[in-house]
Amino acid sequence: MLEKEIAKRRIFGIISHPDAGKTTLTEKLLLFGGAIQKAGAVKSNKADRAATSDFMEIEKQRGISVATSVMGFEYKGCKINILDTPGHKDFAEDTYRTLTAVDSVILVVDCVKGVEEQTRKLMKVCRMRHIPVIIFINKMDREGKVPFDLLEELEKELNISTRPLSWPIGIGSTFKGVYQLYQKKLKLFSGLIKKQRAEDVVQLDNLEDPELDKQIGEKPAQTLREEVELVEGVYEPFDLSLYRAGYLAPVFFGSAINNFGVEELLDTFIEIAPPPQARETNVRTISPNENKFTGFIFKIHANLDPNHRDRIAFCRICSGKFERNKFYTHTRLGKKLKFASPTSFMADAKSLVEEAWPGDVVGLYDAGNFKIGDTLTEGEDLKFMGIPSFSPEIFREVENADPMKSKQFEKGISQLVDEGVAQLFYQNQKSRKFVGTVGELQFEVIKFRMLHEYGASCNFRSIGFQKASWVSSDNDQSLQQFLRSNASRVGADKEGKPVYFSHSQWDIDTEKRNFPDVVFHETSEW
Ligand code: G4P
Repeated sequence: MLEKEIAKRRIFGIISHPDAGKTTLTEKLLLFGGAIQKAGAVKSNKADRAATSDFMEIEKQRGISVATSVMGFEYKGCKINILDTPGHKDFAEDTYRTLTAVDSVILVVDCVKGVEEQTRKLMKVCRMRHIPVIIFINKMDREGKVPFDLLEELEKELNISTRPLSWPIGIGSTFKGVYQLYQKKLKLFSGLIKKQRAEDVVQLDNLEDPELDKQIGEKPAQTLREEVELVEGVYEPFDLSLYRAGYLAPVFFGSAINNFGVEELLDTFIEIAPPPQARETNVRTISPNENKFTGFIFKIHANLDPNHRDRIAFCRICSGKFERNKFYTHTRLGKKLKFASPTSFMADAKSLVEEAWPGDVVGLYDAGNFKIGDTLTEGEDLKFMGIPSFSPEIFREVENADPMKSKQFEKGISQLVDEGVAQLFYQNQKSRKFVGTVGELQFEVIKFRMLHEYGASCNFRSIGFQKASWVSSDNDQSLQQFLRSNASRVGADKEGKPVYFSHSQWDIDTEKRNFPDVVFHETSEW
């Protein structure tokens, strides 16, 4: 039973630079899966993208993203979970954390713009974690870059080998369809239409078929034959194990809005994307088919309704069977907890779950027990690894602006940090608090939420640091000496781990030379 349930499941994230078409592709995948009936059901993260912050929009956005944080659907016998990731760069930390809960990723790239800033950053995280990545080159109905140039750009800029598994026939106004290199099948579309109908598709099994010349014209047919021959000659056959190890990215071409190339992507995805994988803990590797349940929290969402202060903690199930109303151990607190209303997510609908399996995500109502990275087990004392904090890019000192509300202030900051809205660092025996984020927007979100949810006011003061490096050393004396001589620049993270704050890479390089025994880490886990 367990093995069968695991084999059916795929859990992945869709990532992209804003505007490349992540929302549109997600929606088309859900349409194929029958999880939604019409386009428009998945809300575009417009508020997310707004250049200026509009608090109500942020709040609305948070509301929407509860429903769209996980979108489950069934397709050809597979149970697929898409984890949504915010596109806006100010919410990048949220995206990085979501990537800890997936087994693979689909990266959407705009064929006109090619590789963009967020594409690069997100791929860096995928590479670091060896997450298998499929690339979908979108908007082929526009006059974009030449496919061969795009592939070269992806390899060079993203530092990953690529292997096209579909090939476009024409581009822009001449885009006529895609040839499935993996299944060796050809699909032609007659005209650009918002919703593709079965009768608009001509399927051919053989590139030599004269029907091809008739359908798209002799010259384009010849070009396609030549290009496919070139692709097959230049690229090694697709190597599944290299893809699954995160070294090789299969590439698909299409146009999400026109529904072109999406089915090809999905059909290949369910064949090649990895089922739920084993995961590392601080004690041992947990295989999904172990009988005992384990899982971890990768996202926490505050309830918008002020009358219901509970939060939803999203738990990725890693092994065994999760059951409603059964006691599980919260390993950080050493506390037994049971959940009366665990929730599963199917597109925009939520429902109560009695049981769930590895590769599923359940929403757990929480009154403040969880923080990101927490582990649940059937009693074994362990903690899932690989959910580190990354260095923030903007730092501000936070101060309580209302001395009468210091309790509310402390509680608010602590809970927002547990939720992962920002990171908190301390200096001078906790007398100074630094909040670190990846975007300006978070400071406004914190200010707003502190006031509206906790009744606390806060002020932020710029402190100019641009990077936090976690520091360690095998030589404790060296580490202590380093900490002493950099007293004004060191502090601790929320767990008490020592951190060095710097203005630039130059600072770090200088200190590395001064203290060769001290190691500077980019993330909190090493
Ligand atoms: P995102 O989530 O990655 O930010 O992108 P989203 O899907 O919202 O798409 C961004 C814009 O690109 C949208 O246009 C969308 O309609 C368009 N788009 C998506 N796929 C394709 C495609 O295959 N071809 C073309 N030509 N356009 C595509 P918009 O004008 O910003 O929004 P809307 O008013 O169309 O919703």
